[in-house]
Amino acid sequence: MGKITISTLDKMKAAGEKFVCITAYDATFARLVSDAGAETILVGDSLGMVLQGYDSTIPVTIDDMAYHTACVMRARPQSLVIADMPFMSYTTPEQTMAHATELMQAGAQMVKMEGGTWLSDSISMLVERGIPVCAHLGLTPQSVNAFGGYRVQGRTPKEAKSILADAVEIQDAGASLLVLECVPAPLATDISAKLDIPVIGIGAGAGTDAQVLVLHDMLGLSEHTARFVENFMEGQPTIQGALKRFVEAVKSGEYPREEHTYT
Ligand code: KIV
Repeated sequence: MGKITISTLDKMKAAGEKFVCITAYDATFARLVSDAGAETILVGDSLGMVLQGYDSTIPVTIDDMAYHTACVMRARPQSLVIADMPFMSYTTPEQTMAHATELMQAGAQMVKMEGGTWLSDSISMLVERGIPVCAHLGLTPQSVNAFGGYRVQGRTPKEAKSILADAVEIQDAGASLLVLECVPAPLATDISAKLDIPVIGIGAGAGTDAQVLVLHDMLGLSEHTARFVENFMEGQPTIQGALKRFVEAVKSGEYPREEHTYT
């Protein structure tokens, strides 16, 4: 795999080829994930839960994100590296610009922000200044308290319509990628077909352009996992084997299956 860029991912979408994203937070796992052939690495704020032991992503700071992004980049991965903007780090234009700059200077190649229409101006501002953006819709974990728990989003026609409208608007604002988390599969399939930009699904069925899983979940290390998670360590003697198995399963369409999907 050569160095992956956003145009690689655009071409893969156009050709109907699935691509893979796995979270990583340090140099060793970034190397393994890249060697396994995952086109993208997400330095996710899920690190608050899987590394730091919190029960949400809310306590994660911009310093945490910059530190782990720099650790990942020292592996010089071939994968495109996306770093999460943490909770409340993108509420004003000045703060958004300063924090996105911090992550890019730590080595990230794109930043990810949770939210829809209200983010349009921030997305345009960053993109116009050379910072590519991945948006995140559906179950946005930083809003867990507003949702009243980690619940599937977009189940009613009104919610589904609003997520689709948000997706179109963030694309128009200049986002390069969209993560769609925990939404019914038909909605995710519809959004992926309507958007030109690649859509990465998690708990969103098999109809998206790519799949992402949290590293610790797919290695069977997490205490509690959602129904869309498969333990890829099962039957694999090594972590490298499990990572490759996940990459192959996404590319061949074996993962996700019906049992991983919300309808
Ligand atoms: O923080 C994270 O790891 C994420 C993924 C669950 C998409 O946002």
